[in-house]
Amino acid sequence: MIGVLALSGAVLVCVLAARLAFKRRALRCFNQPPQRNWILGHMGLMGNNEEGLQAVDEIIRRYVHSCAWYLGPFYNMVRLFHPDYVKSLLTASASITFKDRIFYGFMKPWLGNCLLLQNGQEWSRHRRLLTSAFHFDILKKYVLIFNQSSNKMHDKWRHLLAAGQNDLDMFEHMSSLTLDSLLKCTFSCDSQCPGKPREYIAAILQLSTLVVQRQHYLPHHWDWLYWRSEQGRRFRKACDIVHGFTADIVRERRLQLDQQGSAKSRSANQEHTGGYKKKDTDLIDLLLLSKDENGEGLANEEIQAHADMFMFAGHDTTASALSWIFYNLSMHQDYQDRCRAEVTSLLQDRETDDITWDDLRQLTFTTMCIKESLRLHPPVLALTRYFSQDMKTPGDLVIPQGSLCLISIYGIHRNPVIWSDPEVFDPMRFDPQRPKERSPHAFIPFSAGPRNCIGQNFAMAEIKVVVAQTLSRFRILPGPKPVRRLYNLVMRAEGGMILNFQPLALSQDQ
Ligand code: HEM
Repeated sequence: MIGVLALSGAVLVCVLAARLAFKRRALRCFNQPPQRNWILGHMGLMGNNEEGLQAVDEIIRRYVHSCAWYLGPFYNMVRLFHPDYVKSLLTASASITFKDRIFYGFMKPWLGNCLLLQNGQEWSRHRRLLTSAFHFDILKKYVLIFNQSSNKMHDKWRHLLAAGQNDLDMFEHMSSLTLDSLLKCTFSCDSQCPGKPREYIAAILQLSTLVVQRQHYLPHHWDWLYWRSEQGRRFRKACDIVHGFTADIVRERRLQLDQQGSAKSRSANQEHTGGYKKKDTDLIDLLLLSKDENGEGLANEEIQAHADMFMFAGHDTTASALSWIFYNLSMHQDYQDRCRAEVTSLLQDRETDDITWDDLRQLTFTTMCIKESLRLHPPVLALTRYFSQDMKTPGDLVIPQGSLCLISIYGIHRNPVIWSDPEVFDPMRFDPQRPKERSPHAFIPFSAGPRNCIGQNFAMAEIKVVVAQTLSRFRILPGPKPVRRLYNLVMRAEGGMILNFQPLALSQDQ
């Protein structure tokens, strides 16, 4: 018996080793950065902290467009950090590119079978359905809410500043703000919203950290081991908090809709009062009321999964973007002053200092600073895809079918071949007057192609409102400590990001 087991074990190891050697051979045409050893490959060579990101910078400088990367004995991947090399992947139809298990699958127990993790036909059907929730006519309505959320945050800051607390943790404040506006805009929640947002935000942070830890620790790739580990237990607990929070919100809205009458009578009512249009419907109502061509609505689990996804994808990314924009402006007072002058001149002679939908287009220089910050500190650093057929890259390299491709947004945004002095914050790169010589895939904070970010316009509108209002009321100065980057699903800062705020009326150089 022992002999049979040993023999089977040996055969299995040989098969795995042969498979591994075959796959690695197929990637031989790509540059091969030095590995730790044959088994671990490049696993653990790059952390998710400041030093890890500096190591990525080095790889980009050295290999310019792409390189092979081996994550332990099972995952072989090609890292791509040049726009010409990612173009075919990003523009490919969603029926031939797929999301993988290691980078996306570990989020499944948390986000369920949501748009972000779906593939093929299922994804197309849901994407079509959800796109109407981000129509411009709906986004216009949200600008008022963005102003209100930002006013509420600034009131709180005024109290803190009056009490001498001028050092504020950006991630803490931006997460509360973006969650607040997301709940109001897309989940129709007013101030009576059920649940504890603070607890929810803390659980999201924990889940993000745990997903990245799991990606980096090979033994935890096995479900069996992971769910018995301390991290697995913490993951489940945080998932319970997050699911409970969204479930309460969905339940509450369902109740309200039931009180207003069935979906059918509601749509009939609206027809009566001017027409029920999909493009006028909030996301949560769309999830609860939509029917496809066959008259089928979304199942409860699908609604829950999409709600969980929007809550995470919609608030954490935007909070990261805002935090890094304020950081970059605190480090560049000249650009901060120029943005402030633009906002002040826009608001001159107005009765309120609310930013309107039409104002967003007038904030030219502020938008240039926002884009430059999204380039230098993209909230999402990388995407991965499987390609279901061989893919040719420039230089006639072939990524074999079934290889994992990592599209490094961070790498593309910091590639010195594309951007001169890439580590310098220079908003003039996005001057609309300057002719654009770059590839359209050189700047992709929201990804690109059919699977780009569905909430891109929502996020940009919110960011512009919050930045404009904040600059018109406060001066932002660097915090007491240097900021160190930390990547946990979105770009964060180690130990938080502390910046110093001065109310403008008290500022000497206003
Ligand atoms: C600055 C803020 C944001 C950034 C940088 C950002 C970035 C991205 C990126 C890079 C992707 C592609 C992910 C992938 O393919 O793996 C994505 C997808 C997505 N984003 Fe955003 N996002 C932001 C804000 C938002 C907002 C506000 C929402 C919703 C309210 C949202 C909802 C989504 C969804 C649902 C997807 C999946 C789309 C699909 O697969 O069809 N995002 N986002």
